[in-house]
Amino acid sequence: MAGLQRLVVTRTLPQASQARLDKGFEGIDIVQWKDDRAIPRSEFLKMAKGADGILCLLTDKIDAEILDAAGPQLKVVSTMSVGYDHVNLSDLEARKIALGITPGVLTEATADTTILLVLAAARRIREGIDAVIQGKWGTWSPTWLLGSQLTDKTVGIVGLGRIGIAVAKRLKVFGVQRFLYQGTRRKEDAENQVGVEGKIEFVGLERLLKESDVICVCCALNDKTKNMFDYHAFSQMKDTVVFVNTARGGIVDQDGLIRALREGKLGSVGLDVTVPEPLPQDSELLTFPNCIVLPHIGSGTLETRTAMSEIAIENVLSGMKGDRLPHPHNE
Ligand code: DGY
Repeated sequence: MAGLQRLVVTRTLPQASQARLDKGFEGIDIVQWKDDRAIPRSEFLKMAKGADGILCLLTDKIDAEILDAAGPQLKVVSTMSVGYDHVNLSDLEARKIALGITPGVLTEATADTTILLVLAAARRIREGIDAVIQGKWGTWSPTWLLGSQLTDKTVGIVGLGRIGIAVAKRLKVFGVQRFLYQGTRRKEDAENQVGVEGKIEFVGLERLLKESDVICVCCALNDKTKNMFDYHAFSQMKDTVVFVNTARGGIVDQDGLIRALREGKLGSVGLDVTVPEPLPQDSELLTFPNCIVLPHIGSGTLETRTAMSEIAIENVLSGMKGDRLPHPHNE
């Protein structure tokens, strides 16, 4: 169809956004992988050919191979995610292709999931549910399945960005005594947003690891954060620590985590993200009763996923028109 721009979409979107795609956009030919499985790489390479815009997900690797397969007319890649560690930025920049992301709208849902994992891990929910299902629920006991509570505890937040702030705000109502946080620099504005005057401190990683009762990983995955939680880091934590990661699996060196769990170095662990995803069923990580693993559902509410897909559509349409993206990756 001469004159039409080509928009490649790599998955079926939440209902309201899918309905918009099904209705179509003037002057745009939409080519979509209408499935709930990730598009196989070979299909993506074929489909990308001639694309002016690509709307992708965090499961789609965007690199020189895909960009070259698309061709020089490609103007924009819009990912339906806030994280963009699946995108090779320098490959995009070299071709002057814009990148759109979906910041802000998934903050609350992801922070909710972080709290869910903190409480579930601290209160040994996996062991409790397993006991009920397996008929191991005996009479009420003063000493059985005792967890820990947040009152008067120290919480370490790694990455006091939008999600880190939302996590801290939620946790303060549980009576947390103080917050430590770690990141590239001190963020006074973020500290003020948490609203716990005098009870929040920017510290080095070592102090955070040693002093925190609960550690929440809320930072982006990049060259600096990749594998930052390795066996050495886990060894410095309290042996009662509640460690929760809702950011990216690659921030944790999973072999180091498994070794630390095997050696009983950690109180409890809650993960929404792993490497790889999905985590193979025979992963040793799934064998520890004090480790809860969720299938990357941090942002998984209908409201949030719809808001994300709407932003992803707006980003890609703007980019295809040659306009400024409403949500570029670098703002
Ligand atoms: C993101 O958008 O990066 C999240 O991981 C999706 O839940």
